[in-house]
Amino acid sequence: MANIAVALLVLPLLQVAIGEHNIQDYTRSFEKKECDMYHGKWVYDNSYPLYGSSQCNFIGKEFACQRNGRPDRLYLKYRWQPSACNLPRFDGLDFLKRFRNKQIMFVGDSLSLNQWQSLTCMLHTATPHSEYKLQRIGGLSTFTTTEYNVSVKFMWNAFLVDIVHKRYGRVLTLDKVDAEKEWDGIDVLIFNTWHWWQHTGRKQPWDFIQEGKHMQKDMDRLVAYEKGLMTWARWVDTNVDPEKTKVFFQGVSPDHSNGSYWPGNNNGKDCKGETKPMLAPGYPNRQHPGELVLKKVLHTMTKPLHLLNVTRLSQQRKDAHPSVYGLGGHRGMDCSHWCLAGLPDTWNQLLYAELISK
Ligand SMILES: *[C@@H]1O[C@H](CO)[C@@H](O)[C@H](O)[C@H]1NC(C)=O
Ligand SMILES: *[C@@H]1O[C@H](CO)[C@@H](O)[C@H](O)[C@H]1NC(C)=O
Repeated sequence: MANIAVALLVLPLLQVAIGEHNIQDYTRSFEKKECDMYHGKWVYDNSYPLYGSSQCNFIGKEFACQRNGRPDRLYLKYRWQPSACNLPRFDGLDFLKRFRNKQIMFVGDSLSLNQWQSLTCMLHTATPHSEYKLQRIGGLSTFTTTEYNVSVKFMWNAFLVDIVHKRYGRVLTLDKVDAEKEWDGIDVLIFNTWHWWQHTGRKQPWDFIQEGKHMQKDMDRLVAYEKGLMTWARWVDTNVDPEKTKVFFQGVSPDHSNGSYWPGNNNGKDCKGETKPMLAPGYPNRQHPGELVLKKVLHTMTKPLHLLNVTRLSQQRKDAHPSVYGLGGHRGMDCSHWCLAGLPDTWNQLLYAELISK
């Protein structure tokens, strides 16, 4: 009996020891030379999640699935395991020490907000008794830990290129970046854009698309996405000093609004009622169309750009969306964003691994 009790106690610790490096144990950096961190699989790990959403009351209602009554918890228990190496376990205290007096900014849409909230919660729960400040001015939200003076910011920017308001309507300008002075002097910039390029009808926030002098009502959205991204890429190549600023792109975050995209979907419609990841090896067997465009654009860049290649590993997580446990209940079905705690914590673990790797 006693042996069983001991075994039960030790087992979760053992899993951590085997599957993840606690970087403080033996080294302060992470070797990823020969390792594609994004090639791997989801494994059950009883030591997850990394925090409880009730520990961070600033997590928005739209992401706080457990607080909103989501009954199942299995989706919280998966850890990303690369095939060729172990990821460092996220160490919030180590993160704060490394980034003392530094500023990190997520620039993008609500998927950036999703990852920003995850990171701020991971840092807060690492130092639960330290003071922090949360401030929101217009589209800019800033989380600052007082003791370490680390600022983690989120700046709303759905397309990265400009929307100009003209007398005759709103113009999405494919060849002008919507750069803000707030981007200056940031140590780590993490960009993202994808979802808003798909929106039509009432959710489309522009009336015309402009490219140079050419103005049109609409165009192929993947082509527009590529042109917009290309403009952003040229902006980074021209304006970012890699000695001062590390630039990341938060890869395309897939949605699960259409059940025909994954095999064995039990209700044929969307992510509602999904409680398990899609663990079949080889899934997905095609690259996401947005990811293909992104890959093409990133290949043209001359400055070092780190891609958080989260698309594929997130495609397997049909279970990790709020569905009816987000903002809107049954009327606001959400198969695009992700519960917190949850999948974006893994994105931040990958960001951390990229930041500390040699
Ligand atoms: C992301 O990683 C997957 C798996 O390793 C790979 O197949 C894909 O090409 C990568 N995507 C990009 C844009 O590099
Ligand atoms: C806090 O960090 C910011 C840069 O992120 C810096 O400008 C400021 O001087 C720092 N404050 C202190 C008290 O060190």
